[in-house]
Amino acid sequence: MAVTIKTQHEIELMRQSGKLLEEVHDTLRDFIKPGITTKDIDRYGEELIRERGGIPNFLHYEGYPASICVSVNEEVVHGIPTEERKLKEGDIVSLDAGLIWKGYHSDAARTWAVGSISKEAAELIKVTEECFFEGIRFAKAGCHLYEISKAIGTYANQRGFGVVEDLVGHGIGTSLHEDPQVPNFRQKGRGMLLVPGMTIAIEPMITAGGKEVQWEDDDWTVTTVDGSLAAHYENTVLITDGEPELFTLTHRE
Ligand code: CO
Repeated sequence: MAVTIKTQHEIELMRQSGKLLEEVHDTLRDFIKPGITTKDIDRYGEELIRERGGIPNFLHYEGYPASICVSVNEEVVHGIPTEERKLKEGDIVSLDAGLIWKGYHSDAARTWAVGSISKEAAELIKVTEECFFEGIRFAKAGCHLYEISKAIGTYANQRGFGVVEDLVGHGIGTSLHEDPQVPNFRQKGRGMLLVPGMTIAIEPMITAGGKEVQWEDDDWTVTTVDGSLAAHYENTVLITDGEPELFTLTHRE
């Protein structure tokens, strides 16, 4: 599928979509505490999406069975919520959520602490977020796509963290996944020229250990091979002539 350039009208709908998703994430943030199950998060998240008139875009996507991807500790992304998995003090939990509003997709992820966590875990969450903000320094017209990739990967490695290479960010619009792919590590060449009206989901997946990941037997849950902790941070981003617009940044951030 080709890269799409959004019109002003489409941009406004994506802005609305992102705003609704921002509210969902902001509400889920306060819901995270020891004792809840990952299924509780999915149930509440789906309710928050639907009560705003959104449609959960992950539900049934290629057979994925939930609305919110909930990934705990060494799970990197695409964890499947269950009634059995209870969060406990000291865990870190990544919530990846998305919705469709008037035909336009939004997609965002955050990693939260469950109660008080180790210094290492807190540092991982912070660096993962910083990776995103390093990357978007190059998310503007006139820059090239892989400048974003390189900035993310370089920053993570300098801080001593691993960068997952098997999963990448993506264009987004009337589909959840559009071209281009947005890797989180250095590529050959500069990649495509960025132009105003492109909308991309930039989503570093960072580990406290190595970059190798594996797929669990449910064929969805991605975990670190070395068992190290992993974090995920993602926003839906609009390329403009100036600073990028982050459709899914929460007002608390
Ligand atoms: Co995404």
